[in-house]
Amino acid sequence: MEQVKAVFNGSFDSLDNIQVSPLSRAYTFSDSVYEVVPFYNSSPIAYENHIERLQKSASALSMKINLDMISNEIKKLIALCESKAGYVYYQVTRGQDLIRSHMHSNDMEIETFGYVLAHTFETKSLKTMICEDLRWGRCDIKSTSLLGNVLSMNKAREKGCDEVIMHNNNILTEAGASNLFFVKDDDICTPALSNNILPGITRQILIDTLLNIDIKVYEKDFTLDDLKLASSAWLTSSTKGIAPIEKIINLDCNLSLNNDKYLIAKKVFDSNFFN
Ligand code: PDD
Repeated sequence: MEQVKAVFNGSFDSLDNIQVSPLSRAYTFSDSVYEVVPFYNSSPIAYENHIERLQKSASALSMKINLDMISNEIKKLIALCESKAGYVYYQVTRGQDLIRSHMHSNDMEIETFGYVLAHTFETKSLKTMICEDLRWGRCDIKSTSLLGNVLSMNKAREKGCDEVIMHNNNILTEAGASNLFFVKDDDICTPALSNNILPGITRQILIDTLLNIDIKVYEKDFTLDDLKLASSAWLTSSTKGIAPIEKIINLDCNLSLNNDKYLIAKKVFDSNFFN
């Protein structure tokens, strides 16, 4: 297998050669933020939006980051990839402690890490499972603290599912690694942004693309009962693009993969995302 190209603290190497201290706060506290930047025809997709979100996530953790350096590294990783389509994972960690301590010192050196992988962006229909949202109160920050997502997604995997759809007291939030859309009464709906949802870049691209052709997406609090009445549903993310949901194993609903609104959304999105 081709070596995965990576960068750690400014040094490019293959992933296998990178060594991280066990006292990295990424390791002990998940004190890190990250981005997944997709690229197609060797060009990053919605690049500025990803960089801006990384800056916001880092600021939320009071981490000062060098965006020019990060930007150069992401672009170099894309150039190093053997494929023209793929994604870069890029993580910024507060740094290494001298000894594990919840309270970090003020003079820590940021640790950066990224790698690039080829990816086909093939559309695959998904089997999903509803579960309670177990996560913390700041899911709008793209942090590597993803244990709630990991626990739920692995429970879903045991049931043969690809993803979960989460809710807080019946209010839909998002999926484990993507945002949720559904069609109800012929309207396209998606949960409104809040501290409980990651402001997905693919989500926003889709909303803007649909608005350009005068299709409004309704953003508000929706419940499990709304989803029960959906005629179609799909998930969005930087690696999935738009992926239709064929089945929700524990919800009484009837989802079509050929719904008109879904097919329009998919068509306009794909021509915009992969241009
Ligand atoms: N996940 N919600 C969550 C919890 C996510 O982890 C992601 C992305 C999204 C979609 O965001 P975007 O459209 O900006 O990719 C929504 C990435 C792909 C990941 O963690 O691998």
